[in-house]
Amino acid sequence: MKNPFTIGLVSENEFCNRERELGELITYAKNGSKVMFCSPRRYGKSSLVFLVLDKLRKEGFLTAYVDLFPISSEDDFISRFATAVIKGFGAGLDQKTFLEKIKGIFSVLRPVVEFVPDGVSISVKVDSPEKRSMALDDLMDGIGKYVKKRKIQACIALDEFQEITELATSKKIEGILRSHIQHQKDVSYFYIGSRRRILQDMFHNKSRPFYKSTYTYILEPISADHFAPFISKRFTGTGKACSLALARIIYDLAQGYPYYVQKLASIVWDAVEHVCDIGTIHQSFERLVRMEAADFEGIWGGLSLSRKSFLRTISLEPTATPYAKNFLEKQSLSIGGAQKAMKVLLAKDLIEKSPEGVYRPTDPIMREWLKKG
Ligand SMILES: Nc1ncnc2c1ncn2[C@@H]1O[C@H](COP(=O)(O)OP(=O)(O)OP(=O)(O)O)[C@@H](O)[C@H]1O
Ligand SMILES: [Mg+2]
Repeated sequence: MKNPFTIGLVSENEFCNRERELGELITYAKNGSKVMFCSPRRYGKSSLVFLVLDKLRKEGFLTAYVDLFPISSEDDFISRFATAVIKGFGAGLDQKTFLEKIKGIFSVLRPVVEFVPDGVSISVKVDSPEKRSMALDDLMDGIGKYVKKRKIQACIALDEFQEITELATSKKIEGILRSHIQHQKDVSYFYIGSRRRILQDMFHNKSRPFYKSTYTYILEPISADHFAPFISKRFTGTGKACSLALARIIYDLAQGYPYYVQKLASIVWDAVEHVCDIGTIHQSFERLVRMEAADFEGIWGGLSLSRKSFLRTISLEPTATPYAKNFLEKQSLSIGGAQKAMKVLLAKDLIEKSPEGVYRPTDPIMREWLKKG
């Protein structure tokens, strides 16, 4: 029997709840709203957005999903964006209609569609090098006109949107996007990402083009009331048993973090022959922490000594007062040093402020690893 837990994109039949979020995001799209959609990494943003787009498509929307990780240049950004729009807007059409419809969408960009043995290959070219500076305007203009002409609604998801801040021309790109998007009443945009500080700065800083142009939607973890029965049922559905109480322990050990809940459940499922027991869960949790260690070591290696020390101290002792004298003394840091460390660790999303105002490592398994080290 195949392991019923997944650590990839979650498809509709593997989905645990998210009913409310699904409804809310669909409503935003139907209102043509622009939404900044964020959460820590691996909470389920991409999976949920795919489902939202799928539902919208079935209701007659044009949809496009753009993955911006990683982008290497402005040209690369435009090419990914344009290709995703052409693919998305052309979904479900036969070859002839598709070619007819995309003809004339753009004036500078030239879609190149090749019918290859295993489907259609789409790329985008710019007619001449001197027209490259007009390419983004052309793309945005084309989207607006196409949607208006067809008298239809559209939803475009830009995943890992914070990546554009890595480009030297980011401010210019943000300005062009904003100037078009604000006029596209029938196109909803989802700006998705996990680097919350960077996204918040893009959307909440008065000097940035996207200032006050969006709703903010924060994806929360999945509640234990939904996740524990989900785990238990998946064991039962594959001929094994895991009681609700034990499923709840799996959830609690992974601290409700969706990716780790699934990964821990998956390790436990592999280890269990018939019936799950508490010993297996704890052994599996140790295994999970060991499995993740290589990733954490990579992140750790890239931090300066003062940041390492600050992160470790926060892990051992999450605190609402990280600049208090006794907290700083534990790591021999000045207030200035601690403030710098905090800024960098927040920007990297390695630390977050909990709803109760306590600073703690964002990743619960990294926290376990740090506590052991
Ligand atoms: N609704 C859900 N039901 C069950 N598991 C889920 C759900 N949403 C997320 N997960 C778990 O979380 C993992 C991460 O999901 P996904 O890749 O959609 O998150 P993400 O927020 O886009 O991550 P990233 O920030 O890394 O792009 C999934 O592989 C799955 O294990
Ligand atoms: Mg994602």
